[in-house]
Amino acid sequence: MNRRRKIYEGKAKDLYEGPEPGTLVQYFKDDATAGDGAKHEILDGKGVLNNRISEFVFTKLNMLGIPTHFIRRINMREQLIKEVEIVPLEVVVRNVAAGSLVKRLGLEAGTQLPRSIIEFYYKDDALHDPMVSEEHITAFGWATPPELDDIMSLAVRVNDFLTGLFMGVGIQLVDFKIEVGRLYEGDTMRIVLADEISPDSCRLWDIKTRNKLDKDRFRQDLGGVVEAYREVAQRLGILVENDNALTTGPRLVQ
Ligand code: TMP
Ligand code: ASP
Repeated sequence: MNRRRKIYEGKAKDLYEGPEPGTLVQYFKDDATAGDGAKHEILDGKGVLNNRISEFVFTKLNMLGIPTHFIRRINMREQLIKEVEIVPLEVVVRNVAAGSLVKRLGLEAGTQLPRSIIEFYYKDDALHDPMVSEEHITAFGWATPPELDDIMSLAVRVNDFLTGLFMGVGIQLVDFKIEVGRLYEGDTMRIVLADEISPDSCRLWDIKTRNKLDKDRFRQDLGGVVEAYREVAQRLGILVENDNALTTGPRLVQ
C-alpha cells in the first residue's frame, strides 16, 4: 500500500510523495492524541471516517469556489492533494463558547458568542501551540498582512458554509480549526485550505440532545468516539444507516 516515500509523519495523518510533481498523498490514521500527544489511543475506523467526512466537506468547498488543496479521494484512508507550503498557524473559528475559550475567559460553555471570533495559534508542539495575535504573525513573517486578510476571509467563508451544512443535519457547529497553505501555480501564489475538516478538528453538538459528536469524546473520556464520528457521517449522507462497512473493512469498495 505505502511504497511511496513518507515525507511527513503527523499525529493523525501522514503525508507521502504524490504520483506527480506538486501532489501529495494524505493518509488518515486511526491514532487519536490529546494534550500534545500525552494521551494516545488507536480508535479503529476513525481514519476511514475522517477521510470520508473531510472529502465530503472539501469537495463541496471546491464546488463553491473556496480554494482547497483537495484533489480526490484515492481509497479508504488516502486522498490526493496539491502540495502547499503550510502557514505555521492553527486558525480557530468560534461561534459558541467551549474548550480553551471557556477556561481563558471564564465563560459558561454553550454560550452563544456575540459574533464569530477568529483566533490564531502558532503551530509549535514544543511550545504547545501558543495563541498569537495578528501583530505577532506579521512581525515574525509567518504570514504577510494581505495573506492574513485572505486567511481570515477564507475562515469566515468556511464557517458560513459549515454552519449551514451541519445545521441542516441537526448539528451545531460550536468551533473548528483549519490550516491553510500557499499554493504556487506558475507565477501566482494563493492561500488555500489545507489539512482536514473532520470531527477531530471541529466541535459538533447535537442540536436537540446537546450530545458531543466530536473529539471532545476522546479528550474527556466520554467513550463512543468512533460511533459519534459515524453518526456525523451518516447524517451527512456519506454512510447509510446501519452501514458498518467503514470499520469492518473489506466490504467498503467505493
Ligand atoms: P480549543 O477550545 O481547545 O482551543 O479548540 C478550538 C477548536 O480547535 C476545537 O474545535 C478543537 C480544535 N483543535 C484542533 O483541531 N487541534 C488542536 O490541537 C486544538 C488545541 C484544537
Ligand atoms: N490535537 C490534540 C487536541 O486537540 C492535541 C494533540 O494532538 O496533542 O487535543
